[in-house]
Amino acid sequence: MSVDDAAEPLSYPFPRRSAVEPPAELAELREGCPHARIAVGGGEMTLLTRYTDVRTVMGDTRFTRDLSTEGAVALSADGTDVFSRSTSMSTTASGEAHAQWRRMVSRWFTAKRMTALRPEIEQMAEELIDAMVDRGAPADLGALLAFPLPIRVICSMLGVPDEDKDRFAHWSNVMMNFSRYSKEEADASTAEFDAYMLEHIEAKRGEPADDLISNLLVQTDAAGYRMAGSDLLETAKGLLAAGYETTANSIGKMTAFLLADRSRWEALLADRSLVRTAVEEALRFDAQLGLGLPRFITEDVKVGDAVVPAGTTVLLSMAAANRDTTVFERAEEMVLDRSPNPHIAFGVGPHSCLGQALARTEMTVVLEVMLRRLPRLELAVPVEELQLDDGLIVTALTSLPVRW
Ligand code: HEM
Repeated sequence: MSVDDAAEPLSYPFPRRSAVEPPAELAELREGCPHARIAVGGGEMTLLTRYTDVRTVMGDTRFTRDLSTEGAVALSADGTDVFSRSTSMSTTASGEAHAQWRRMVSRWFTAKRMTALRPEIEQMAEELIDAMVDRGAPADLGALLAFPLPIRVICSMLGVPDEDKDRFAHWSNVMMNFSRYSKEEADASTAEFDAYMLEHIEAKRGEPADDLISNLLVQTDAAGYRMAGSDLLETAKGLLAAGYETTANSIGKMTAFLLADRSRWEALLADRSLVRTAVEEALRFDAQLGLGLPRFITEDVKVGDAVVPAGTTVLLSMAAANRDTTVFERAEEMVLDRSPNPHIAFGVGPHSCLGQALARTEMTVVLEVMLRRLPRLELAVPVEELQLDDGLIVTALTSLPVRW
């Protein structure tokens, strides 16, 4: 059956044939059916795959990302994902409240702070690699480096002790649920996170330190607004959900892409000045979030060649957009020195990624440390054996076995 004349919505996510290549359906739809009807967990959505369409909708504030809005379709079957839970979006969904929230949080992510964080992140990468080397090859680089590093970074940013990082990793996992956790598990996890965080916020109120929560507790904006405890809770939740699995997954996939064709790894060993553009290219090659970004519209809006009718939930496929051949030459190839590289892995417009400088720093530092410490790094299994986990809305590798 050709995708463009499908009578029934296409079942989504599409079947995976490879962990390092996007499903062929995405390119087919981008060419022939740029507004495709898909059936996801919660119902029917319209999948957009063309770069200009995806970009346009991301930047159009008439499209909300709050899927708890009446009439919107949830991403996961039981509405437990971060986009579909009403509480997750109260502060950050859209409008002036979002703009005000964003101005305050973005004060934390200054270029100066990101530069200052670099040695700390480098130290974390060194320690994790030491531990991995001590255990010996083969090892799961995902479990031992790609995941532990960003959770440590977020815990340090929120000012929570390192020993609680495994709990944070679990809570984040559940927030990113697509089909792995039941509603009961998701509710229990949210209640635990909320209780922990509210207590943490109160503790910071009494004893502020140099972390993001303490900063937000004392900060006022030009209009004299100060964040309430409930907004701080949602902010912490938003940062954990936005910044952990995404970065962990990007570190893992970047490494897998570079090792899947080892001439890429060797090119970087020979010329470290390629690291910066290689990180961007890895982001383009496997754009987050794996399933796509959802939006809901309450009026008819023309997008590209067709109208998106009021009441439609759309899913924006950055994975498809970032391989659009009308924008990227040799879109299917990983070009390590690609420049310019206008990928939209971090989104665009009013919700574009607040943590992108941090994510870039983490990816760059990990890659540099791996190149220096593990030059002989290679996959310990054939690339065909790598698997993706579709249980979460970020599609991570289930494991990344390597040796060195
Ligand atoms: C490679 C890693 C990352 C990727 C690919 C990524 C991607 C994205 C994307 C696509 C969006 C737009 C969401 C939308 O339009 O609905 C976004 C938003 C956001 N990201 Fe990231 N992100 C990454 C890492 C981080 C990190 C490390 C942080 C901070 C700790 C972070 C914090 C945020 C926040 C707070 C938003 C919401 C901004 C808003 O609503 O105004 N992200 N990210």
